[in-house]
Amino acid sequence: MVSKKMVITAALPYANGSIHIGHLVEYIQADIFVRFQKMNRRDCRYFCADDTHGAPIMIRAKKEGVKPEDIIERYHKEHQEDFSDFLIEFDNYHSTNSEENRILAEEIYTKLRESNHIDRREIDQTFCEKDNMFLPDRFIKGTCPKCGAEDQYGDVCESCGTHYDPTDLKDPKCAICQTPPIRKKSIHLFFQVGHFQDTLDKFMESGALQNEVKNFLTTWLKEGLKDWDISRDGPYFGFQIPDEVNKYFYVWLDAPIGYISSTQNWAKRTNADFEELWRNGDTEIHHFIGKDIVYFHTLFWIPMLKAAGFKMPNKIHVHGFLTVNGEKMSKTKGTFINARTYLDYLDPEYLRYYYASKLKNSVGDLDLSFQDFANRVNAEMVNKIANLGSRTISMFNKNKALNNSLGFSGNKEMVKFCQQFIDESDNISKNYANCDFGLAVKKVCHLADIANAFIDQHKPWELKNNLDSQRAVLTAGIHAFRLITLYLKPVIPLFAAKVEQILKIEPLMWGDSIDSIDKLLAMEGHKIGEFQRLAERVDIKTTEKVIQKTMENTKTDQQLNS
Ligand code: MSP
Ligand code: ZN
Repeated sequence: MVSKKMVITAALPYANGSIHIGHLVEYIQADIFVRFQKMNRRDCRYFCADDTHGAPIMIRAKKEGVKPEDIIERYHKEHQEDFSDFLIEFDNYHSTNSEENRILAEEIYTKLRESNHIDRREIDQTFCEKDNMFLPDRFIKGTCPKCGAEDQYGDVCESCGTHYDPTDLKDPKCAICQTPPIRKKSIHLFFQVGHFQDTLDKFMESGALQNEVKNFLTTWLKEGLKDWDISRDGPYFGFQIPDEVNKYFYVWLDAPIGYISSTQNWAKRTNADFEELWRNGDTEIHHFIGKDIVYFHTLFWIPMLKAAGFKMPNKIHVHGFLTVNGEKMSKTKGTFINARTYLDYLDPEYLRYYYASKLKNSVGDLDLSFQDFANRVNAEMVNKIANLGSRTISMFNKNKALNNSLGFSGNKEMVKFCQQFIDESDNISKNYANCDFGLAVKKVCHLADIANAFIDQHKPWELKNNLDSQRAVLTAGIHAFRLITLYLKPVIPLFAAKVEQILKIEPLMWGDSIDSIDKLLAMEGHKIGEFQRLAERVDIKTTEKVIQKTMENTKTDQQLNS
């Protein structure tokens, strides 16, 4: 059977800020999934891009006296370096401020309009006469009408949590220039999402959504589908709407189209068939997103795809939010940690391992506690897993009479011991395929426990004078370690590459190349190389430095901005 091609996407990070450890939950999660598919020889591609449009980036550029494009370019480079250093490997990383994206956005919008899903009507908006622009909710500040808290945004009070319209704020002020705004009428374009009730009902039953997400969607559908405002008046940093004057697409209209345009850009680069992937073919499309943007990816995105004749996603994998030490990430507490700050002190594979151990196929939040992080990395990755490789391979290397040459020497007990490591392959594979990475890691740790206990029991260090027995015990231990490494390779690919090098083996793959006893026996006489260190312990003090450094960076930022 030829398996379907796969397109995997992760949400597009905003182009006006750095990648932080919260974002990394998602990019690492999707990367592990993709690596797993690729290890199964699936034709699987991982696409992403920067989300570049919107008012915040325009306002920031004005403040810094640069063009929005300059900011975009700076972060485009930074984001890609951060991802690459976290071993997150995209097949293509594009930008929503691209020609491909503009053409696709226009095409999709035109289809929506031609099939009568766009309504034009006049609405009342908040306008700053001094800045000569309509103000987005986040750029209006005032006193909360409910609790009286000052300096609150135009959409929600951070003190009491009440949602309101910017017009409800007391003493509203423009957040850019502090002038009280006025009300002004303007024509806006609305996508009539309500026309797609059936599409959404069907999509909900298609198996694309986790049960928890289906529940959110059921509630929203019950509340009724409201028209979605997809236009913004200039000045706005985005794409001009065709046949309109001074109107731009709202950033959330062209953002998800970035998934398609990144694919298209890749297809052009690699001479691949783009139409097959998003339109005609039997491709599997998977989106990875956080729980905060489910609304956009269901209520708006599904109707857009439907109306414009694109394929529906087969899966939307929604994850929860990262908390640090049990609390929301916080700048003042130093837990709003940037990818780069982490990398300056700690190994990226530790975070990949830690997140994997906590990830399950659920929208529940996950917590990074640095004490737990250090304990876990040290107890599992270093003491259980790396140590299994270290003790067996080093001992093998050390006894020169073994000549670094693997062999069971006909010892059936040792061969039989390896069977249980082979047997777990299907279960672990299912865990990866279902995004239950925590279960996969748990099983691997259990296997490492078994292998370490086996070595303790057979004491190969006492078998120096019984060459065949020593070789057989260590060979079994090394095969167990090799299989454990294979099972963890989607999570810690560099670790796996080091093991492949030490053992002088081909890149470990899943699927058809998974082991059988025959395959182990075929490796009789295989010569391994010299051991090299695989993983260092984490010192809790190092994690404290990361927090310290984050607090210092926050202070510098505040000084620069004041
Ligand atoms: N630009 C939009 C997405 C557009 S997709 C067409 C956006 N960008 S974001 O930079 O704010 O977030 C990117 C992804 O990271 C989102 O899926 C978001 O849920 C995720 N996360 C951002 N902060 C997070 C945590 N603290 N924890 C886990 N995921 C988080 O939204
Ligand atoms: Zn103003």
